[in-house]
Amino acid sequence: MASIAGAAASRLLSSATKARLSLSTSYTSLSLPSSSSLSSLKCIRSSPLLSHLLLHQKRSSVHVSTGGYSTVAFASDPDQLKSARENIKELLKTKFCHPILVRLGWHDAGTYNKDIKEWPQRGGANGSLRFEIELKHAANAGLINAIKLLQPIKDKYSGVTYADLFQLASATAVEEAGGPKIPMKYGRVDASGPEQCPEEGRLPAAGPPSPADHLREVFYRMGLNDKDIVALSGAHTLGRSRPERSGWGKPETKYTKDGPGAPGGQSWTVQWLKFDNSYFKDIKERRDEDLLVLPTDAVLFEDPSFKVYTEKYAEDQDAFFKDYAEAHAKLSNLGAKFDPPEGFSM
Ligand code: HEM
Repeated sequence: MASIAGAAASRLLSSATKARLSLSTSYTSLSLPSSSSLSSLKCIRSSPLLSHLLLHQKRSSVHVSTGGYSTVAFASDPDQLKSARENIKELLKTKFCHPILVRLGWHDAGTYNKDIKEWPQRGGANGSLRFEIELKHAANAGLINAIKLLQPIKDKYSGVTYADLFQLASATAVEEAGGPKIPMKYGRVDASGPEQCPEEGRLPAAGPPSPADHLREVFYRMGLNDKDIVALSGAHTLGRSRPERSGWGKPETKYTKDGPGAPGGQSWTVQWLKFDNSYFKDIKERRDEDLLVLPTDAVLFEDPSFKVYTEKYAEDQDAFFKDYAEAHAKLSNLGAKFDPPEGFSM
């Protein structure tokens, strides 16, 4: 198992080596920009945040000299990832930002195209969503706020890639909101520059002419199936839609006018910071005008193949949690290049 091998490899590093590893890590983040990052320099004058991000871009793996021979550490350092997880938990407690962190992880991974073999052209969980060009895609409206929340944690742990941090934040948010434990693995390598971002249009639209066909077209392109589509849509048990971001939802409702977090928007569920199966129950009953149902949510209760799962999840939260955890883990791995190749768990 990668996790065991990973842990063993990590333990084998003496503390002296670890010290050199961290020195080496900071050195790589201070090294001169590569030609790919030079091209991103062109756009940073207009964006102080992006300028800051660029300074902290790290090479995908850290070379460690162990005095006599040289080895390669993982894309992310397991100990730093664990500390970052604790920092994310603190952030969640103070900012109530569970929903936007889940959306961030999903939008980084959901650009994956299974028919493209090359990385990073195939898209997916490679941290490319940190670049301004991708953040400006219409589907990503508002996600700059998620990046801003995570950047101080990224700054603290130079040995953690953006790609891992986004997926760690999303899985931690689901778990901390009361959702299932997700069988995650780590070691994702980062895309290195804005020229590696996917083209706009790979993520689903909320109001397409034929919602069932559209969902299948988009999610099948990612290699996911009908069960995954329904289970993952259940993440809308968290969060709100804001007209000023996506164009969908009411400016505020009785469930959102007082926050927590920034007030406003329209939620799919009453307790939109709690991860449970209420998304399926509430949409099935259409219980309240103040709760949101997008066309792509509604079709999950109409299409015969999708309906098998929505009915089941409305009745059985354990079944939803089991399928959600599996689908979320699959989503988080889409398109990712792992170092070590099998990834590692923690
Ligand atoms: C099935 C196709 C999907 C469509 C069409 C869709 C569409 C949307 C839209 C329009 C919003 C509102 C964004 C805003 O105004 O801020 C949203 C929010 C959200 N989406 Fe989805 N989504 C889909 C699937 C997913 C999946 C697969 C996940 C996660 C696994 C997810 C997680 C979320 C979360 C947590 C929010 C709330 C964000 C917040 O409160 O800031 N969505 N989605």
